[in-house]
Amino acid sequence: MNVTIHDLRSWKAEGKRFAMLTAYDFPTAQILDRAGVPVLLVGDSLGRNVLGYANELPVTMDEMLHHVKAVTRGAEHAMVVGDMPFMSFQASVEDGVRNAGRLIKEGGAQAVKIEGPQLDLVHRLVEIGIPVMAHVGLTPQAVYGMGGYRVQGRGEAAAKVLEQASQLEKAGAFAIVLEAMPSELGGEITRSLQIPTIGIGAGPECDAQVLVVNDLLGITEKPPKLAKAYADLRGTITEAAESFVRDVEAGTFPDADHSYS
Ligand code: KIV
Repeated sequence: MNVTIHDLRSWKAEGKRFAMLTAYDFPTAQILDRAGVPVLLVGDSLGRNVLGYANELPVTMDEMLHHVKAVTRGAEHAMVVGDMPFMSFQASVEDGVRNAGRLIKEGGAQAVKIEGPQLDLVHRLVEIGIPVMAHVGLTPQAVYGMGGYRVQGRGEAAAKVLEQASQLEKAGAFAIVLEAMPSELGGEITRSLQIPTIGIGAGPECDAQVLVVNDLLGITEKPPKLAKAYADLRGTITEAAESFVRDVEAGTFPDADHSYS
């Protein structure tokens, strides 16, 4: 049985912190699942981290589905959350219901994540049994509206973010991502909600923390300030590729151990 929304709720009640990571493919999902990561998010950060887009906006439902399916095949224990891409829900609640349904039905995700205060949609999805992870603060799908990837909720704007979080909890969200906001605001929202807050650049008081897996592994060329690299895979991959090129050019690969007699 995969991790459920009830597990997350009881972890919050017990004061147990937990981790979430993004995943976009089968082998990474399998490794993270076996490493004990309880929640895997197939984020629309797929666009920048895997597909080479400049931002999240071009990511389509079909692209999301393709990767959600791969990740759910690799996750035996973790809850898999599928992100709703730009324009899959903004035009109408009906669009949102249909597309969220696809991530669950075709993709095999156990929940969906939706950016912004989409209260009617969250309410409707919860009513029909689709768990929703909300997302406030810096919402990358609104990058142009925000004038860039900027910290949100500073000064007087804090009250608005706090209010959005509270309304999303009331609408039925089971958890909420808090992205790029002052630590004090992350702490205040965390204390005011019954549902777990999952921070990314929202300070240490959040109930959980999420990182983009490419940032965690040191693959991202220019990671944002909020990310911490726990490995240097960019360096490791570069060294491996350079060694292979050298061996092939020198005629030392394949050797007898890697050839058939
Ligand atoms: O798309 C994504 O990966 C996200 C996380 C950074 C929370 O929304």
